[in-house]
Amino acid sequence: MTAIETLRHSPEQLRVRIAEELDRARNRSITLTDAVDREDLVRQHSPLMSPLVWDYAHIGNQEELWLVRDVGGREPVREDIDNLYDAFAHKRADRPSLPLLGPDEARSYVAEVRRKVLDVLERTPLEGRRLTEAGFAFGMIVQHEQQHVETMLATHQLRVGAPVLDAPAPPPGRAPASDEVYVPGGMFLMGTDLEPWALDNERPAHAVGVEPFWIDADPVTNAQYIAFVEAGGYDDERWWTPAGWAHRQAAGLAAPQFWHRDGDTWRRTRFGHVEEVPPQEPVQHVCWYEADAYARWAGKRLPTEAEWEKAARYDPATGRSLRYPWGDDDPTAAHANLAGAHLQPAPVGAYPDGVSPLGVRGLIGDVWEWTSSDFTPYPGFAMFPYPEYSEVFFGSDYKVLRGGAWATDPSACRTTFRNWDYPIRRQIFAGFRCARNARPEDADV
Ligand SMILES: [Fe+2]
Repeated sequence: MTAIETLRHSPEQLRVRIAEELDRARNRSITLTDAVDREDLVRQHSPLMSPLVWDYAHIGNQEELWLVRDVGGREPVREDIDNLYDAFAHKRADRPSLPLLGPDEARSYVAEVRRKVLDVLERTPLEGRRLTEAGFAFGMIVQHEQQHVETMLATHQLRVGAPVLDAPAPPPGRAPASDEVYVPGGMFLMGTDLEPWALDNERPAHAVGVEPFWIDADPVTNAQYIAFVEAGGYDDERWWTPAGWAHRQAAGLAAPQFWHRDGDTWRRTRFGHVEEVPPQEPVQHVCWYEADAYARWAGKRLPTEAEWEKAARYDPATGRSLRYPWGDDDPTAAHANLAGAHLQPAPVGAYPDGVSPLGVRGLIGDVWEWTSSDFTPYPGFAMFPYPEYSEVFFGSDYKVLRGGAWATDPSACRTTFRNWDYPIRRQIFAGFRCARNARPEDADV
């Protein structure tokens, strides 16, 4: 039974599944906060990031607000700290100077909230109220914690010092049958009405038409990106938008973040390990401007998010949009590189079971993929359950990323899931693939 079927049919199984998801998220946050000493927990490793101890207590605070107080109707646990952990009240750079809970206090607060939440879960009807229908509020909080796990992994990557995280190597890659895949034009169903834990910005499902196009079979690899670097791509204004060129100059961009040149070799620092850049892995830690410049250098462009989603889930045999590229089953370790299993992207082609019906590979997991699209609401968008989840971010400041990274948990990753960030951001686990318009005669392929 897939998660979606569980969510629809059995309240008992749904409660078990929610408890498992909450537990899995918590195990990951504990691993990342226990991996460093107290000093590292309270330190700010980059002005772009919060101290890890802030993320951890914020996870507990959001869980308290939504599940203990709202869903459970219980007395507050620590109303006095709500403001400290309100992400909109304090910028990340200012958070270390706040009177935050210390590591021990944060741990006992987060544990106390969770004990109450498990009791609320036992007693709450998972129907009859939109917030709790099919366990939505629990699913929202699971995804919130898992998204902060990914943020905490980005903080770990920025941390300087001896390595504290390790994972087994990813499976080997395989060459694609062809470098590009043809995607026929026409309508497909974008977004979702069916996925119970989908967030407001993924809704509603709606028909979207695209012109026929070609999309890369795989994300752009490090080897391909090195060719752009070594061809002088960073020094040639022709490939950059005016804003991208201005940013490239001001920030001194010359290669992906965490890379350095050692003689003839490109090396990278990954969670404290210095290693040769693996040629067949998707490139990561590039900003939208770099992705866009590479695409232009390659004679291509970034896909729109509608194109990305069609390539990921459209089944030409049935005309249906699938939940995942491989079908409607929940992700497993055979489908995609997710949940931090390897602490790095896998070489392209490492997941033959994860290929889309059209033959596009590596869409889920490995690296978030920048698209050309601004983060805007779908037609018929209805804010739920609070404007700060999505609505306040809509507009031209943010670019949409799709597909999830190796760090992303399956609970926060599906073909309809939309992530967004500023076009200058590089600390996230983001790469990209390219697309190009098809010519009329390409329809014969
Ligand atoms: Fe948050």
